[in-house]
Amino acid sequence: MVRSLRKAAVPGAFDTAAPAYDRLVDANPGYHEHLRLSASRLELPGDGVGLRLLDLGCGTGASTAALLDAAPGAEIVGVDASAQMLAQARTKEWPDTVRFVHARAEELADAGVTGPFDGILAAYLVRNLPDPDGGLAAIRDLLRPGAPLAVHEYSVADSPRARATWTAVCWTIIIPSGWMRTGSAALYRYLWRSVQRFDGAVAFQNRMRRAGFEEVRAETVPGWQADIVHTFLGRRPAQVRSV
Ligand SMILES: C[S@@+](CC[C@H](N)C(=O)[O-])C[C@H]1O[C@@H](n2cnc3c(N)ncnc32)[C@H](O)[C@@H]1O
Repeated sequence: MVRSLRKAAVPGAFDTAAPAYDRLVDANPGYHEHLRLSASRLELPGDGVGLRLLDLGCGTGASTAALLDAAPGAEIVGVDASAQMLAQARTKEWPDTVRFVHARAEELADAGVTGPFDGILAAYLVRNLPDPDGGLAAIRDLLRPGAPLAVHEYSVADSPRARATWTAVCWTIIIPSGWMRTGSAALYRYLWRSVQRFDGAVAFQNRMRRAGFEEVRAETVPGWQADIVHTFLGRRPAQVRSV
């Protein structure tokens, strides 16, 4: 029987997956390089000294490391709803400028995470939010006016080739490997299905515009994940528009 995973239950499924997560993503060619590419596309000034950055859905810290690479001098807050993913992140070496907070993206203020941030990276998070429109609007409000957001995400709906490649890779590699390493395939079947159902790249850019972002654009990555993995970029408007 194929059990479906509700979005609210996704962080709990990552608790189970956490001990094997880094080994699985390390086996994915380009995973870290693509995160670094998305972080660099934020085009943060200088070496980041004086900037406050947020890594929303930071998991075991792979995206946090990418953000640190893009802005080594910045203060970085990594937030995740899975305690076990964060426990993995905390086993790694970080400068004092990096800290991790256990919170759902929907409840950041309750956890003491408040803006303004000078840049936000959300890698493989927004697709998992029960309310992506509300989540994007909340992210916009956390940004300093004019500051950038990079949503690093799978999106295959606009390309038949990308959809077919995604399904083939999931059912021949990702789902069997996830099952072998964690004893459960539920999260990996959810990954396949949630990406199949997620916005196409055009629809997601429109979703960002509706959430109030400006200068919205998408760039994909090199290699076999071209048109599968994307960086969606946008900025909080620098000024409130007068009507
Ligand atoms: C696929 S992992 C990505 C982790 C990391 N950003 C990376 O690139 O490796 C997605 C992460 O989002 C977290 N997550 C899912 N829903 C969340 C929510 N509502 N609030 C905060 N974190 C959430 C999960 O716990 C998980 O660690």
